[in-house]
Amino acid sequence: MRNLYRLGAVFVLPLLLCNAALHAHAQDSAAPMEKKEQESLYSTIRSFVGRWWNGSELFPDPCGSTPVQGVLCDVFDGLWYVTALSVGPVMENSLDCARDSHFPLQLFELGHLRSLSVFSCFSDPARHPVAIPSKGWEKLSGSLESLEARSNRGLTGEVPAAIGALNKLQSLVLEENKLSGELPHELGELSKLRRLVLSGNQFSGSVPASLGSAMSELLILDLSRNALKGLLPPAAGGLRSLEKLDLSSNLLGGVIPAALGELRSLTLLDLRNNNFSGGGAAGSFGFLRGMAALQELLLSNNPLGGEIGSFPWASLENLSAVGLSNTFLGGEIPAAIAGLKGLRFLALDNNRLRGGVPPELESLPAVGALYLSRNNLSGRLQFSSEFYRRMGTRFAAWGNPNLCYAGGGGDDAPIGVQQCRGEQGLATDGDLGGGTSGLRASAAVLSASSSFAGGGGGGAPWAASPAIFLAALLL
Ligand SMILES: *[C@@H]1O[C@H](CO)[C@@H](O)[C@H](O)[C@H]1NC(C)=O
Ligand SMILES: *[C@@H]1O[C@H](CO)[C@@H](O)[C@H](O)[C@H]1NC(C)=O
Ligand SMILES: *[C@@H]1O[C@H](CO)[C@@H](O)[C@H](O)[C@H]1NC(C)=O
Ligand SMILES: *[C@@H]1O[C@H](CO)[C@@H](O)[C@H](O)[C@H]1NC(C)=O
Repeated sequence: MRNLYRLGAVFVLPLLLCNAALHAHAQDSAAPMEKKEQESLYSTIRSFVGRWWNGSELFPDPCGSTPVQGVLCDVFDGLWYVTALSVGPVMENSLDCARDSHFPLQLFELGHLRSLSVFSCFSDPARHPVAIPSKGWEKLSGSLESLEARSNRGLTGEVPAAIGALNKLQSLVLEENKLSGELPHELGELSKLRRLVLSGNQFSGSVPASLGSAMSELLILDLSRNALKGLLPPAAGGLRSLEKLDLSSNLLGGVIPAALGELRSLTLLDLRNNNFSGGGAAGSFGFLRGMAALQELLLSNNPLGGEIGSFPWASLENLSAVGLSNTFLGGEIPAAIAGLKGLRFLALDNNRLRGGVPPELESLPAVGALYLSRNNLSGRLQFSSEFYRRMGTRFAAWGNPNLCYAGGGGDDAPIGVQQCRGEQGLATDGDLGGGTSGLRASAAVLSASSSFAGGGGGGAPWAASPAIFLAALLL
C-alpha cells in the first residue's frame, strides 16, 4: 500500500513546481482578480480556519503580491482565478483548521478550481461531525480534477451521488476518514478517473457493479479497510488500465471472479483479510494466467482452499511478493516457484501444505523472507547454514512436525525445527522437540501453540513478521 503513497507524490510534485513558477510569475504580473472570486476565496478559507482569519487585511492580493500558503492561482482571460486549495497541517505556515470548521458552500463559486485537498482538518466526530456537501459539485464539473480528504476523523456521512457529476475528476482520494454507508453507483460515471482511493473508512454494502469498463483510465482502485461485503462484481474485469487493485480488509467473499483475469496491466492484487473461497474448484486460480505483469499477489487470510500447484506460477514471472498465509491451501510446494527470479517475499505459513521444501528456493536471487511455518511439510530442509544466518527470523518453518533440518546445529539453526536424526552434532535421542537448538526452539514451539490458540495473531514475535516484513518491502 505504501507504493500507493509514492504514486501520490507523483501527483503532488508537479503541483508544487507549478506553485513556485506561479509565484515567480506573480511578481511581475499584475492581473486583477474579480471581487466575487476574491470574496469566495476568503469566505471559503474562513470556513475552514475560523472566523478570525481576515483575508482582505492579511492577503489583499491573494493571487499576486500576498500569496496564501495552500492557494494556487492561474490567469484566465486576463484575470486571476483560484485553481488549487489545500488546507490542513502540511507545512509550517499552512492553513490550519478550526475546531468548528466545515465544508463551505462558497467553495462551489470557485469555478476554476482544479484541486481541493483537506488534510487532518475535521477532527471531532462527536461534537462537530462534518459531511461532504450533497450538492453543488456540478458547479465544479468543468474544472475539478483532484478531490482529496485524508485523515479527517470528523468527516462522516456518505459519499454523495452528486460527486458523479465531476466529469473531469482524475483523482478521488477519501482516505482515513469516518465516511460510511454504501458507495454510490455514480462513482462509475467518473470516466476520467485515474485514482480512486476510499480506504480506511466505514463503508458498507457491496462494491458497485458500475466500477467497470466506463472507467477506462483507472490505474488505482483502493477500497481497503472498510466493511464492504458480498461478491466482487465481474464488471471490475472491465477496468482495463488498472495497475493496482487493493480490496484488503473487508468482508468480501465468494469466488474471485474469473473476469479479473482481464486486468492485464495489474501489478498489485491485494485481497488479504476477506472471506474469498472457491479455490477448490477446477481452474479457480486460472484467472491469474492473464495477469503476467503481476508483482504482488496478496491473498492471505481468506478461506480459499485448493492446491498451491494449481496456480499458474510459470506465467507470473514478474512476481516479487506472494502472500498466501492462512488460505487453507494444500498440496506440495512446486519447484516452479523457484523459477520466479524476482521473488523477495514468500509467505505460505498456516496452510495445509505437505511434502518437501524445494532446496532451489535458496537460489532465488532476491529472496528476503520465506515463511513456511504451521503446515504439514516433511522431510529434510536442505538450505545452507549461510542461508539460515542471512534470513534470521525472516525464515520460519516451525510448526511442521515432520520436518527436520540437515546441518550441524548451532546459532544458525532454523528456529523451532528439529535436527534430522543421524546428523552429526548435538541431536539427543528421542528428544526431537526442544533439545537441538536450545532455548530458541522451545520458545518457538511454545509460542506456536499459543498463537494457534489465539487464532494466529498473537504470541510469537515472528508470527507477526510476515506482515511486518511485507510492510517494509512495500515501502
Ligand atoms: C477585515 O478587516 C478589514 C479592515 O480592518 C475590515 O474592514 C473587515 O470588516 C474585516 N473583515 C472581517 C470578515 O472581519
Ligand atoms: C464467509 O463465507 C461463507 C461461505 O463461503 C459464509 O458461510 C460465511 O458466513 C462468510 N463469513 C462472513 C463473516 O461473511
Ligand atoms: C516484467 O518486468 C519487466 C521489467 O520491469 C518488464 O519489462 C516487463 O514488461 C514485465 N512483464 C510484463 C508481462 O509486464
Ligand atoms: C501430515 O503428513 C503425514 C505424512 O508426512 C501424514 O501421515 C499425516 O496424516 C499428515 N497430517 C495431517 C494433519 O494432514
